[in-house]
Amino acid sequence: MLKIETLDGGHDRERFDCGVEALNLYLRQTARQHIAKDIARTYVLVDEESRAPKPVLGFFTLSICQVFAEDIPPKWAKKLPKSIPAIRLGRLAVAKARQGSGLGKTILVEALYRTARAAEIAAGIGLFVDAKDHKAAAFYAKFGFQEVSGTPLKLFLPMETVRQFAAAGAGKN
Ligand SMILES: CC(C)(COP(=O)(O)OP(=O)(O)OC[C@H]1O[C@@H](n2cnc3c(N)ncnc32)[C@H](O)[C@@H]1OP(=O)(O)O)[C@@H](O)C(=O)NCCC(=O)NCCS
Repeated sequence: MLKIETLDGGHDRERFDCGVEALNLYLRQTARQHIAKDIARTYVLVDEESRAPKPVLGFFTLSICQVFAEDIPPKWAKKLPKSIPAIRLGRLAVAKARQGSGLGKTILVEALYRTARAAEIAAGIGLFVDAKDHKAAAFYAKFGFQEVSGTPLKLFLPMETVRQFAAAGAGKN
């Protein structure tokens, strides 16, 4: 059965390959430091029956961030203070060999579930992501992420929509 776990020493970071070297290197070299320094939490998708070190099928990172009124699409930007709290999906990737079989959707929905949980404790206006390229942006757009005006790779999903995904049954993994 597939399961989301917080990245730790029991996961095989070395052999993860999503086809984007910067993301592979992040998982290998930086993710655990960022966890230790409270900069980003990294979650991995694994098969819970696999033996340690467990192969990583996909991963994502979440952090708290600060944005400004101009970063919010006009529909949600009314009567806001200058500086606004939000959550950031820093990275998201699926192992190349497993791409195209629904795992990207699985881990994105899990990221939304954890975002909704975080926002119960400390408010955030929504989830921001900097898409790597237009292909990645098209993937996020499928789930309702909106372009931040003038920056097509900077995307926003309002917390209301995040909560709808969470209520629809995410968090099973
Ligand atoms: C982008 C990525 C995470 C998608 O993961 P995946 O497992 O291949 O995607 P899924 O199979 O879960 O696809 C889910 C849905 O998104 C669609 N989709 C997947 N990639 C897409 C793309 N590039 N553009 C538009 N739609 C896309 C699928 O067709 C599917 O739609 P459906 O539910 O209507 O059938 C994966 O290709 C990846 O890791 N790429 C390299 C790293 C990367 O670019 N990460 C994004 C960083 S910002």
